Amino acid sequence: MRIRKAVFPVAGLGTRFLPATKATPKEMLSLVDKPLIQYVVEEAMAAGMNEIVMITGRNKNAIEDHFDRSVELEHILEKKGNMELLEMVRSISEMCDFIYTRQKEPKGLGHAVLRVKDVTDEEPFGVLLGDDIIYTEGSPVMTQLVDVFHKTGGSPVVAVERVPMEAVSSYGVIDGEPLGNGLYLIKSMVEKPPRDKAPSNMAIIGRYILTPDIYRHLENTPFDAKGELQLTGAINSLLKERKVYALEFKGKRYDAGDKLGFLKATVEFALRRPDLGDSFLQYLKTLKL
Ligand code: G1P
Repeated sequence: MRIRKAVFPVAGLGTRFLPATKATPKEMLSLVDKPLIQYVVEEAMAAGMNEIVMITGRNKNAIEDHFDRSVELEHILEKKGNMELLEMVRSISEMCDFIYTRQKEPKGLGHAVLRVKDVTDEEPFGVLLGDDIIYTEGSPVMTQLVDVFHKTGGSPVVAVERVPMEAVSSYGVIDGEPLGNGLYLIKSMVEKPPRDKAPSNMAIIGRYILTPDIYRHLENTPFDAKGELQLTGAINSLLKERKVYALEFKGKRYDAGDKLGFLKATVEFALRRPDLGDSFLQYLKTLKL
């Protein structure tokens, strides 16, 4: 079964990036010359998903505008004869179908995903978090997860990465049985455990493929002490009923929601760009580091 829908929870306030995110959504911060969210939408598209479902909140209009047509801008570029830019601007709005829904209060990732129950309907769907930008030389990470989904006969799968033990409390963490080739059968998972309670250092990274039965578990999962409904809790409950897998993906992940992570991504993405890489490298070499 083809996975057509990709869900993007983008209602977060971006407090780690203030003041840049006071009036601009963090998803619209630009990595070299493209907003973060477009990298992630392109990753979903490369995995065959062409219905993009965005769960937005206040101050997120720029995301809708970005993926909409800009007739005025297209007209100006056409008049100037700048066909290359015109084509690029047009292609953004023609990428796929976009559906927007609102999460009125920031009550956690699980709460956000539950908002789209009626939109994703009876189909499996992807979930992609825009803070995690992943560079791959081979298949994009969502494509790697889709492969696992098919190979396991349609089981839910999450992306994981080994992180230093002192960082585990920032992530959902899995306890998994290794099956080879980076694949794990998940035994349990826990959201943001203290270091001494973490079952491993295998952290969940913001890419998931879920099946519609997750909604029943979300509906039955209690809100946590912070008043949030966690997706991790619902998946942990789901895996008592069916197999759920984790894939240690191939690729390099940047936490672009964090200032240092964003700077690292900016430098490395710029260095990889055919049109900028050489001159940027020459410039960096002149710095007395
Ligand atoms: C969310 C999830 C967490 C996961 C992380 C990946 O946390 O709740 O399980 O490890 O995304 O980025 P957040 O970073 O939104 O607090």
